[in-house]
Amino acid sequence: MADDVAHTIPALDAIIAPYVDKTGGLMCALNALQAELGYIDAAATARLADAFNLTKAEVKGVISFYEDFTTRPRGKHVIRICQAEACQSVGARTLTQHATEKLGIGLGETTKDGRVTLEPVYCLGLCANGPAVMADGKVKAQVTEAAFDKLAGVEGDGA
Ligand code: FES
Repeated sequence: MADDVAHTIPALDAIIAPYVDKTGGLMCALNALQAELGYIDAAATARLADAFNLTKAEVKGVISFYEDFTTRPRGKHVIRICQAEACQSVGARTLTQHATEKLGIGLGETTKDGRVTLEPVYCLGLCANGPAVMADGKVKAQVTEAAFDKLAGVEGDGA
C-alpha cells in the first residue's frame, strides 16, 4: 500500500510493462499502479505517458476522470460523501460541513495522522435515501452526523 517514498523508475516500469500494447492497457496499468502503490504520482504519470505514447496531460485527464485514482496517498480509511443533487436536498452539505469540522480537513484531504481521507463522490445510487456515504467501499444510506462520527471513528470527540 501507499507510502510517501518516491517509487523508482524500474519499479514503476515493472508494474506498467504487462499492460503495454494491450487493448485497454492504460486502464489496467492505472489500476495496477493504484492497487500496488496506493496512488499515481507525477513519476508514474510520466512513465505511463512514455509507455502508451500519450502526453502527460492525456494521462492526467484519465486519472482525474475516475474517482478511484488518486495522485496522493490516501488515509487508512476513505470516506466519501455524496455531493450530488438528491443528497444535497436532504442534508449532504450540512453533513459535509460537520465531517470537515470534525476531522479538521477539507474534501480531498487526509487527516495528519493518515487515518482518514475525506472525498466527494457524485452519486452512489442511493438517491432516495441520502445523505449517502461510502466508507471503505461500503455504501451507507441516510447518514446522520452521529452515524458519520461512528464511521469516521470520531464519536465522542469534541467539535
Ligand atoms: S445523489 Fe447521492 S446517492 Fe445519488
